Formats: sequence, C-alpha cells, structure tokens
Amino acid sequence: MSTEVVMNKTASLYERRKQLVPNALGIFNPSSISHASGAIVYDADGRALIDFAGGIGVLNAGHCPEPVVRAIQQQAEKFIHACFNVSIYEQYLDAAQHMIDILPHGDATKIMFTNSGAEAIENAIKIARQATGRSAVIAYTQAFHGRTLMAATLTSKVGYKTGFGPYAPEIYRIDFPAFAAYEGPLDEDSFSDLHIENLRSFFNTHIPAKQVAAIILEPVQGEGGFHVVPKHYLQQLRNLCNEHGIVLILDEVQTGFGRTGSWGAYQQLGVIPDISTWAKSMGSGMPVGAVMGKAHIMDAAIAGTIGGTYLGNPLCMVAVSATINYMKEIDINAKGMHVGSIIRKRFMQLRDNYPQHISSVRGMGAMMAFELSYDGDIRKPNGDLCKKITQRCYENGVIAISSGIHGNVIRNLAPLVITDEQLERGLDILEEAVAYYCK
Ligand SMILES: Cc1ncc(COP(=O)(O)O)c(C=O)c1O
Repeated sequence: MSTEVVMNKTASLYERRKQLVPNALGIFNPSSISHASGAIVYDADGRALIDFAGGIGVLNAGHCPEPVVRAIQQQAEKFIHACFNVSIYEQYLDAAQHMIDILPHGDATKIMFTNSGAEAIENAIKIARQATGRSAVIAYTQAFHGRTLMAATLTSKVGYKTGFGPYAPEIYRIDFPAFAAYEGPLDEDSFSDLHIENLRSFFNTHIPAKQVAAIILEPVQGEGGFHVVPKHYLQQLRNLCNEHGIVLILDEVQTGFGRTGSWGAYQQLGVIPDISTWAKSMGSGMPVGAVMGKAHIMDAAIAGTIGGTYLGNPLCMVAVSATINYMKEIDINAKGMHVGSIIRKRFMQLRDNYPQHISSVRGMGAMMAFELSYDGDIRKPNGDLCKKITQRCYENGVIAISSGIHGNVIRNLAPLVITDEQLERGLDILEEAVAYYCK
C-alpha cells in the first residue's frame, strides 16, 4: 500500500470530522483506528502503530483483552440494561466485590459506580460534603479532575475551562508540591514540610479548616504533567486531614490499575484515603468509573442524592470483573514496574543526551514523562517542540501524546501488556524524533 493511499483514508476521516464535529473537540494525535490488539493500533489505512497513549491511560490491560471481550459479548445476549435501582443483578455486586478486594479503604469499604471519571469526582465531592456538613473543597495547581462543571472547577489549567463560568463556589486552590520542578536548596522532606506549613497558614488566611469538607489530589498528576506527590507530603496531609476532620480524596482515575506498579498509587504511598475515584483502565475501555470510600463516609450520603440511570451498567460491570481477573492473571502490577523501568532508563538517557532540551524526567512505575524546555530550563516550557516530536512519532509509527499546563511534557501511557520488543521499538522512534529536532 503506498504512503499516499495510507494518508488519504485517515485524512478523509478528518475531513468528515470537520463537517460533523464541533471544532473545540481536541485532536491530541493525528491518528485513526480501525481495529487494535494488545499495544498495536491498526489505522484506517491498515498501518500498524505502536500505542503509547492507550486511549489516555484506559488500556493498561491492552486493546481488546480476550476474556473482557468475551464477557461483554456474553452479557449482551442476557440483558444490556436494567437500572440497578429498579432490578438488582449479581454482575454489579461481583464487580463491587472485585474492586473492594483489590482497593480496600480500611476495615470496611463501599463503592458506587459511575459512567466516567468526572462523574466519580462529582459524587465524591457530594459525599464528602454530606459526610462533614461543610462546603469548602481544596484542590491543587495543575490538577485535572474532568470536564463537568464541578470537575472543571477543581481543574487548574485554564485551557480546559475558558469561557463557561461561573464555576462552582467554595473551591480553593493551593500549590501542588511538585518537587521535580523545584530548584531550591531543600530536600524532598523539608520541601514537603514547607508545603504543609503553607497549608496550615492557608487555614488562617483563606478558609478555616473547620469549613473544609475535603482536600482532593491526584497522587501523580496526569494532565498536569506527571508530577508525583512526595510520600512525606501525603502522609503529613493525611495527618492534617485527621486533625481537622477533613475528607482526604485521592483521584486515581489515571494512576489506577497497574499504571504506577500497584492497583492504586496510594498503596505505595503509605496512606489510605477516605474517598478515592477511579475510571479509565478499570473497564478496559467501557465507560465506567467508581467512587470508593470508608463505609461510614460512603453511608453518610443522603438517600436519593446519588445515582443515575446507567450507573453499574451490566456490560460495564462484567468488563470490570473480567479486567480485574485478567490483570491478576497476568500480574499487571509487575508489568507496570517492568515497563516503567525500561521507559525510565530510556528517558534518563534522553535527558543525558539532550540536556539543553529536556529539563526533567519523572513519574511513578509506568506513568513516566519527560519535560521539554528551552535551554533545559524548566521555567521555559517548549510546547512547540513537543508538538513536532509527537507529529514525527506518528509519521514513523508511534501514537504519542503530551500533557502539562504548557503542553510541553511527553508522557507514556502504553498498554502494560506491550512486549519489550514493541516498547523498545516505540522508544527508538521517539528517540529518533527527539534527535531529529534537538541535534
Ligand atoms: C486524574 C483524572 N481525574 C478525572 C478525569 C476525568 O475522567 P473522564 O474523562 O472519564 O471524565 C481524568 C481524565 O483524564 C483524570 O486524568
């Protein structure tokens, strides 16, 4: 098949898109897809692409894992919808049990399912407010929590929230302790202590602690550029929340299900959240999310105030159960660690080779990224270079995506079932693109 034909089919899909779809819907990569398997996407023209995006962190178990496909097919022949409020079914309870088994929040954990990550966030905030009888919520700079009105209010990057305010009231923002971007004299623990001190004074200068219902953060910021919360900071934050009766919410939508090398990042960080939110890889691509939490907090939600027609849809529920079973079978967390170690090594080499362009390499497990900056100075983001590199990757057979407030961070969210050979080949293509523009 000639290159010309290859480009034409994908290009014609983009032409149709222009006619039918609002311009504002973003294009993160110029690729198309007709079918996919594991870590390989076949585009509309039959070209095989190595997938470093995983549908934005949704495909940790790979494209179309066979047991998940089979479970969805079999369920579709039984019933597609009932509404769990109308008729209960075991598929819902089985998925709930699977989630609670791998992600316990102390002695007793409860879960509600949602249709998306943003909807999980909405419900987490509702429940935290009802449990505490307080209204304020504290979120972080560079945070991303989704695109519904509350989730967008909690989100930091203005590019995601321009022009549709007013936003939800009673949301306060503090600096994320992004140690990788810090260039001062403090070590990580002292840096964390300073941020906790700043939060204590925030309670005097902005909002009293006794009015704060919840503090919400991503253990590794996804869209914000893969900044990892320091363990010491999170543990201190846990203590502070205990001291003031504040609900600690961890948003694990992007970090979950093996991505960081454990089911949840919190399990490596030595804290248990009161509430956590999940979506993306939990259903291998089915539209499903969840709010989990300590049972007494989840039970504080007022009857009639949470729910929805499709929550816990049976096709999604069997996808969740089959995904978790499959992930256990292939030891997804070990895969996350393994894939992460290869990516980390290659990204560190890249930084050593191109210090004038790459200012930081960071992440946790297989949630790895590098930041592109002018003069290798992290204060001078280079989003243009990032765009050029992702475009060249696409031309050479890799779907790569960016993140970060300035769109200057190349992140890797490849399916964790990627083979070493595919991964190294994809990293070779990425390295060639960096070399091409940075030589
Ligand atoms: C950390 C985090 N929270 C929430 C969301 C929103 O999830 P969804 O797109 O399923 O609404 C995302 C999506 O990227 C995310 O990364």
